[in-house]
Amino acid sequence: MTEPHSTSMRTHRCGDLRPEHIGTTVSLCGWVARRREHGEHLAFVDLRDHSGITQCVVNDDVDVRSEYVVRITGVVRARPEGTVNPGLPTGEVEVGECVVEVLRRADPPPFPIDARADAVDENIRLQYRYLDLRRERMQRNLRVRAAVNSAVRAAMERQAFVEVETPMLVPSTPEGAREFLVPSRKEPGSFYALPQSPQLFKQLLMVAGVDRYYQMARCLRDEDLRADRQYEFMQLDMEMSFVGQDDVLHAVSEAVLAAAEAATGERPPPIERMTWRESMERFGVDKPDLRFGLELVELTEVFASTGFKAFAGADSIKAINVPGRAAEFGRNQLDKLTDRAKQIGAKGLVWLKVTGEAGEAGEAGDVGFDSPVAKFISDDEAAAIRERTGAVPGDLVLIVADDWHTTCEVLGTLRNDLGRPPVHEGPYRYVWIVEFPLFVGVDAATGRPKPGHHPFTSPHPDDVDRIESDPMTVRSIAYDLVLNGWELGSGSIRIHEPELQRRVFTALGISEQDAARKFGFFLNPFEYGAPPHGGFAFGLDRLVAILAGEENIREVIAFPKTQSGADPMTNAPVPGDPKQLAELGLRVLPPSS
Ligand code: AMO
Ligand code: AMP
Repeated sequence: MTEPHSTSMRTHRCGDLRPEHIGTTVSLCGWVARRREHGEHLAFVDLRDHSGITQCVVNDDVDVRSEYVVRITGVVRARPEGTVNPGLPTGEVEVGECVVEVLRRADPPPFPIDARADAVDENIRLQYRYLDLRRERMQRNLRVRAAVNSAVRAAMERQAFVEVETPMLVPSTPEGAREFLVPSRKEPGSFYALPQSPQLFKQLLMVAGVDRYYQMARCLRDEDLRADRQYEFMQLDMEMSFVGQDDVLHAVSEAVLAAAEAATGERPPPIERMTWRESMERFGVDKPDLRFGLELVELTEVFASTGFKAFAGADSIKAINVPGRAAEFGRNQLDKLTDRAKQIGAKGLVWLKVTGEAGEAGEAGDVGFDSPVAKFISDDEAAAIRERTGAVPGDLVLIVADDWHTTCEVLGTLRNDLGRPPVHEGPYRYVWIVEFPLFVGVDAATGRPKPGHHPFTSPHPDDVDRIESDPMTVRSIAYDLVLNGWELGSGSIRIHEPELQRRVFTALGISEQDAARKFGFFLNPFEYGAPPHGGFAFGLDRLVAILAGEENIREVIAFPKTQSGADPMTNAPVPGDPKQLAELGLRVLPPSS
């Protein structure tokens, strides 16, 4: 049987050789990972390609150095006793009687091409990305990504989705981020936008009768970069006709679970669902990390008639109990926690260290609180706190009183700060968050509610009556997929009736003229017969990062941008060429100081 990776130049890859190959003459091609002199006119050359490393014993007058590209032909033999390397998959064998051909000499690399490069400055790694990518970790990440892409495609096609490509030069799309503009040469002063997502086009494909669309879509958003954000990223984007929420969730789950199985070898269990309200109440955030506890505990009623000024009359009072960690927190750390809470918007933070001896089961025992505000908390309140939080001596209880949103957000953030495991740890916990509010917050400029997802999201049928009278309580048929505290994706059932769309626009403060101007090209086609439809998009970079155990999506993108948006390898972005600018009718103003 020929090896699947053999070519006219090689018989095997560098990671393939095992004891069963002993006695075989092989040709390997790759890069010199390391050379060690061995005495007796011999040298060890560790030869590397993407699959691994094999030790080759060569004549010491051969001129090969780190990162030279070579072809080595020789005979596989068992390593002498005591020299077997159990840390290397090829560690039981070596290649001897080697003939070495240098295919390309190489300059010494700017950093070692192995795990030591993890500690190298990110800018240097990205400047020499082609060397960084030679490393095992990066090769693995690229291949996890390819496996995920391939599994996602296969799952979509199994479900009769049709791949359609949508344009990159588009008018503005309503995802809410800043857009990248592309100047038009034919129409100086006019611009295309690069798509933030294929949202408008995929909905028009539903009007066009495509029925089930998908695309591995490149999306572009000019936002501040973070661990889970790049200017350009990939979505698995999909849309379906004649469906409700369950149909969409089912189709997306198929793709995500197949991708997870392809990357990890294990198919996760069916994905659970939680309403947005429950997620906020229990975890304080809309993207809960279910790998750990520290859930929020409701205490508002406990303090209904409290004498403690800071809590009296508060709209919402909640706590988290951090078990067994009171001793860890000295005054300094507690001040830092309080500052952190205030930074997120809290008026303050009450901390209680639970002290004393726990009583027999069911009895309070001699338990108290060590806290500057302990004296303001009545015995009944203290008992209720202990009962509801389950706190016992040695625990640290943190309490916030504020409006409901602030209480949730502050404690949700502290919960993550105090309990969240690193990305490579613990089980994969997928969860669908459903019934997001239709509107979130108020636009400072217009005084109107802002869309929770986008303005084409369908309100929940049970709440439609309240769009005008009580908009902030209206739920939507919008849903997110969350994995270990990361938002993987979002979607919704869309509005397909003009009357309902008008009412939502009105609530958002978008006038009929505005709607016609901004979204006319999109909404007019609905008049020709839009089917009920809905869809979803998830971030492939994010899914791959988590499945590869990486904290930053940069590690799973071949050529990403740095945090400041630059590419140290190509030097992009670069100043515009004056001739090009003139052709485009553009003049660059001096930076405003
Ligand atoms: P949304 O804007 O929520 O929805 O985006 C969907 C998913 O895309 C990923 N994502 C990003 N990944 C990396 N870098 C970024 N800058 C970035 N921005 C977004 C996230 C996110 O959850 N058209 C709608 C979907 C729909 O309604 O069908 C949309 O784009 O994983
Ligand atoms: P004060 O009455 O403002 O001096 O606050 C007394 C203590 O209660 C301080 O430790 C504050 O951090 C805390 N505190 C004040 N307001 C709140 C609040 N809304 N929620 C939680 N703790 C608070």
